[in-house]
Amino acid sequence: MAAATSLLLISGLGCRQDMHDEPKFFPQRGTDFYADGRSVRPQVANTVARNQLHADTYFYTGFINGKEGDGMPFPVTMKVLERGQERYNVYCTPCHSRVGNGMGMIVDRGYAHAGDYHTARLETAPLGHFFNVMTNGYGAMPDYSAQITPIDRWAIVAYIKALQLSQKATQADVPAGAQVQPLSSIAEKEGLPANFADQWTLPPTAVRGTPDDQPYVLPATPPNAASGSGAPVASHTPKSPAAAPAGKTAAKQ
Ligand code: HEC
Repeated sequence: MAAATSLLLISGLGCRQDMHDEPKFFPQRGTDFYADGRSVRPQVANTVARNQLHADTYFYTGFINGKEGDGMPFPVTMKVLERGQERYNVYCTPCHSRVGNGMGMIVDRGYAHAGDYHTARLETAPLGHFFNVMTNGYGAMPDYSAQITPIDRWAIVAYIKALQLSQKATQADVPAGAQVQPLSSIAEKEGLPANFADQWTLPPTAVRGTPDDQPYVLPATPPNAASGSGAPVASHTPKSPAAAPAGKTAAKQ
């Protein structure tokens, strides 16, 4: 038993030494093996690496002839919308909130006011614009191209259109027999106060940003300075129980 173990150890060690000593190129170091002295070989002309062809430029950029295009590059199904909702809720709600008014929790805590999707400009913006914003970032917003694949970015675009419609739907938008209900009546049915569905305002704990493209100026006195004791818990102003689930602070309390 003991003999077998030490044998294994020796052969393991031997193996590592071989790999350590064998000839190889070190990254960014030259070599005299190739005539041009480079150990890192240049790409072979007219070749495309696997998965990097991206011939469908609209799908990968959101642009058509240098302009943001309008339309989805593939048909929208319920599955696409559900995927878009799920990805949107993961990546966008921290700043844009679940309803897309741009007052998510990160904004509550001092980030620049994120875009409100329910403005006339964004309601009529071409679909490629939303894809472009996610792919390249926009002003104070970082890009999400590393986190979200192109197909998921398009799914989010589709879901944002659904979000926009959800805030302004009319009877003409739904099939016969279905009813458009104001959010407040749904809230009431769920046992929540009617004002649960109102537009909410940022709480006093929010650090106010300056208008876009200007540096932030922190308030001279921290919002909680007045509360005495200096206990850090003061920053967690309890929200009304009804308001808490959606991260919502009622305008009047
Ligand atoms: C870290 C916070 C943050 C996250 C997360 C975030 N955004 Fe934004 N977003 C912003 C801010 C801030 C702005 C406003 C930027 C400005 O005007 O400088 C913005 C603006 C926008 C706009 C409006 C662009 C315009 O034309 O005015 C869209 C659309 C948008 N975001 C989509 C998204 C989507 C989709 C996601 C999720 C994939 C997302 N954002 C995630 C912060 C965020």
